[in-house]
Amino acid sequence: MSSASQIKSARVASGPRWIVPAKIVVFVAMLFPLARLIVLGVNGGLGANPIEFITRSTGLWTLVYLCITLAITPVRRLTGVNALARFRRMTGLFAFFFAVLHFTTYIWFDKWFDVAEMVKDIGKRPFITVGFAAFVLLIPLAITSPKAMVRKLGRRWQTLHRAIYLIATLAILHFWWMKAGKNDLELPKIYGAVVIALLGWRVIAWLRTRSKRA
Ligand code: HEM
Repeated sequence: MSSASQIKSARVASGPRWIVPAKIVVFVAMLFPLARLIVLGVNGGLGANPIEFITRSTGLWTLVYLCITLAITPVRRLTGVNALARFRRMTGLFAFFFAVLHFTTYIWFDKWFDVAEMVKDIGKRPFITVGFAAFVLLIPLAITSPKAMVRKLGRRWQTLHRAIYLIATLAILHFWWMKAGKNDLELPKIYGAVVIALLGWRVIAWLRTRSKRA
């Protein structure tokens, strides 16, 4: 291969020039909710119940990052900007990172690792079990996110990573159930509609591919 074509194929592999700076900007932007919590914490701005504030904030950002991750493929197809696919690993891992913060806040700062207390709480608030299921399902996706795992698992990787739709559905159920007890369903309805639209898009895309193949 000539050196010109080697440079060209290396550029195709690494994507357009704007990818690296854009990734840095997105990375820093996605750290913003954590930075905000730290700044509020240091300045005593977390309200009367800081643990509840942190649990709610990290839970909501986990859901937001899950939705962003799910939206990448539809937006990529609609705009034709294929390089967007290169952001999916990062947004997915941020969703996992915030889920870890959310879960840790609950078991550590809220329940102090007191299993009996947690079991009692789950009995009272079963929505926690659904959140836990979503969290457990996220773990294999995070573990298999490195490029080497994508190569190693081949088609099985794609099948495994479709679990993100189930995770998002469980997350909506967790949110809905929690808020239903408080008669405050406005936000769960909005996020529910977003997840249904993204799921619907996926089903339509799948049906189209199937009929084209047929
Ligand atoms: C992918 C996993 C998860 C997602 C996306 C998620 C998302 C959320 C959301 C959106 C809220 C409501 C925030 C608000 O009020 O605005 C929430 C609340 C909550 N989550 Fe999760 N969650 C997840 C996993 C878990 C796990 C594993 C646990 C604990 C075992 C948990 C425990 C809680 C609790 C206790 C609350 C309510 C706090 C309160 O009553 O104020 N969540 N979660």
